[in-house]
Amino acid sequence: MKRVGFVGWRGMVGSVLMQRMREENDFAEIDPVFFTTSQAGKPGPDVGKDVPPLKDAKDIDELKQMEAIVSCQGGGYTESVYGKLREAGWKGYWIDAASTLRMDDDATIVLDPVNRDVITDRLANGAKTFVGGNCTVSLMMMGLGGLFQEDLIEWISPMTYQAASGAGAQNMRELLQQMGALHDVSKDLLEDPASGILEIDRRVSDFMRSPEYPQQQWGAPLAGSLIAWLDCETEGGQSKEEWKAEVETNKILGRSGNPIPIDGICVRIGAMRSHSQALTIKLKKDVPLADIEGILASANDWAKVVPNEKEATMRELSPAAVTGTLDVPVGRLRKLTMGPEYLAAFTVGDQLLWGAAEPLRRMLRILLE
Ligand code: HSE
Repeated sequence: MKRVGFVGWRGMVGSVLMQRMREENDFAEIDPVFFTTSQAGKPGPDVGKDVPPLKDAKDIDELKQMEAIVSCQGGGYTESVYGKLREAGWKGYWIDAASTLRMDDDATIVLDPVNRDVITDRLANGAKTFVGGNCTVSLMMMGLGGLFQEDLIEWISPMTYQAASGAGAQNMRELLQQMGALHDVSKDLLEDPASGILEIDRRVSDFMRSPEYPQQQWGAPLAGSLIAWLDCETEGGQSKEEWKAEVETNKILGRSGNPIPIDGICVRIGAMRSHSQALTIKLKKDVPLADIEGILASANDWAKVVPNEKEATMRELSPAAVTGTLDVPVGRLRKLTMGPEYLAAFTVGDQLLWGAAEPLRRMLRILLE
């Protein structure tokens, strides 16, 4: 398997994917072909070897030449191209960052440090469609991988603190504009040590509620505030992001017929690109905390147990500490006062790495084995 087409490689997730593939020397193993929706015929990117000029991402005949296609182009592209490609008889591997195909029976959600057995099984059965999971789901599963492996979980309630990157590049930019605007509006008062904090707060609050506050992308203040709803509504007042937690986790584990209940509230906060989540976990039995720490730390190379101490937590368990790394720290581990089966945990992970690009890159590697 050599000829691999890439679509959407210039966007945010695609750029992180390219960077990781260069770091891991993945391009040496394949003949990459780059597709574009707007610049066919232009030179391809520098990936350390010659690549053909960019090809038209809507050209089914060109796409059909590929043995695998990796798409970070988004759900609209998948919707417009995937069906046509399969109808045209294409039997190649489709690896996708978008959620469009995730819950299809033909699609496998990939997170190989957690579900390599499911992937191997599906490949052996001829599966050709592999999709990255929702970022929050993947990051939770990377952090809690050991508890899933040991089948210790009765249910989980995740309360998320999701970063701006999950909503896209324009939203990240607007978050920074909001931060800057809040500072601008209070700058003269901040510089005056004699000014009162309540006066500063009133000015900032009034500004956040005014039409001058930049919120075209978010539709509400994020910097200085938060947004307690992500994505559209599904049923019973649950947001789509919240719905994904249970259905995707169980599909990843290959246990949709016997699902672990997972439900909570998803919240957007003013972090740039690392999602955090506070988890209440009901264990199937009382497992000593030291054993839990051992199980979590040894499940994969990226989950890192942070001691439940203030200094370590402040230093290691935050978006500021994690962003740009593949580490998924998990900390604040303690038994809740409700009883010895109730475990608290807090985990953080880079939304663009394990949350998006890394599982796709690794799936491609699995196909090359
Ligand atoms: N839906 C996620 C978010 C990102 O908005 O943070 C995609 O997995």
